[in-house]
Amino acid sequence: MIEYHPRYLEPVLTETSSDHPVVVLTGARQTGKTTLLRRLFPAPTWRYVDLDDLDQRDLAAERPSELLTGSNRIVIDEAQREPEILTAIKKLVDHDRSRTKVIVSGSANLLLMKRVSETLAGRAVHLVLRSMTVGERLRRPRAGFLPALFASEGLSDLETPPGRALMPPQRLQELLWRGGLPPLLGLRAGAVARWWEGYVATYLERDVTLQSPLASLSDFRRVMKATALRGGQLLNYSSVARDVGVSAPSVRRYLDLMEATHMFIRLQAYARNRTKRLIKSPKVYLADSGLAAFLAGDPDRRSVAASDMAGPYLEHLVFQELLTEASRLVPSAALYYWRTSDNYEVDFVVEWGRKVVGVEVKRTKNPGYGDALGLRVFLDENRDRAVCGVLLHLGREVRQLGERIFALPLDTLWDGFK
Ligand SMILES: Nc1ncnc2c1ncn2[C@@H]1O[C@H](COP(=O)(O)OP(=O)(O)OP(=O)(O)O)[C@@H](O)[C@H]1O
Ligand SMILES: [Mg+2]
Repeated sequence: MIEYHPRYLEPVLTETSSDHPVVVLTGARQTGKTTLLRRLFPAPTWRYVDLDDLDQRDLAAERPSELLTGSNRIVIDEAQREPEILTAIKKLVDHDRSRTKVIVSGSANLLLMKRVSETLAGRAVHLVLRSMTVGERLRRPRAGFLPALFASEGLSDLETPPGRALMPPQRLQELLWRGGLPPLLGLRAGAVARWWEGYVATYLERDVTLQSPLASLSDFRRVMKATALRGGQLLNYSSVARDVGVSAPSVRRYLDLMEATHMFIRLQAYARNRTKRLIKSPKVYLADSGLAAFLAGDPDRRSVAASDMAGPYLEHLVFQELLTEASRLVPSAALYYWRTSDNYEVDFVVEWGRKVVGVEVKRTKNPGYGDALGLRVFLDENRDRAVCGVLLHLGREVRQLGERIFALPLDTLWDGFK
């Protein structure tokens, strides 16, 4: 039995629930939602309703208010199974808003289901539990990478202690390849690929079939794979459609479902400034670097390191870290990428209020000025908002690469600054 790894979302979840009557916590399968809820909202203070349980689900469908009477602190797990329950929750909240606390959880983004967002409009706050960050996997306190960037005035604020040890490259490859879902924590390396195999099969049979009964599972699986192979690239529906041999509208439908179940994310372009020459189509990321590696066909750590996809896998890892960090900020920060039609590019743009920072990822130990070209153009074009640009690399040096542009070791993401 693996001991409990504290989650960075814990304080946010507790606080949000004390401030609002309904919190909707969603996340991909196996990110640790049930474990987290049982821990933060324990019985008997909280009543726990699991809609995977057939009796409870029948009751939820037929006499939902009966399921909820007698308690004003309720956790409803697997809520996507019986969305009817939400109308009963709404009644409960409207009856006694000040004392009712409900946590609604599930593996589908309930707020994307139209009826749910209408039912709970103005009553619910939505949080997402994602794969574990590197810091969570190592049971470290949060490093506070983004808050430090947004508060930075210059290199001296961003320096990391000299001589701090980097994570050995094999360890990093292992983290990338394994992925960050908690059941993978204690699994021996030889069992990881089989675990992902079962994960994807269960996802298809259970979640895809539930929400889209007519989908062809073999087509769906091939769309997942084609998407993984395009990790970090611009999304082009017709190119996926051609590869897989299904229509572009089907690809779009399958990707919508993958996104609604938190398996995949479309990263939108940052297009605040007026320049017309910006690329606007979204980029493609799987929710977990381990899932990306499994689907793209890299079965072990060595093959991940040698793969054409090594760069995109690393981007996935950084993206995962930034997503969790962004949701820890108040208000939450938003993530984008940035690219011009003449190919100046920044991998990630983090927008927080009126400020932005650019984050570029490079698989090099020795970054130079040329590697920061995209960041330089980005900062130049977003002068009024941009705080700084950072280039994360695999070496140990902290270096200034231009005005407000800094090269930092990748490990700063989980080790933090001074
Ligand atoms: N913080 C944690 N530390 C250690 N192990 C964890 C942690 N969270 C979850 N696990 C383990 O990971 C597995 C999956 O967790 P859990 O069932 O909570 O996920 P879930 O998101 O509810 O999954 P599903 O969507 O399939 O219901 C469990 O075996 C659990 O013991
Ligand atoms: Mg669960």
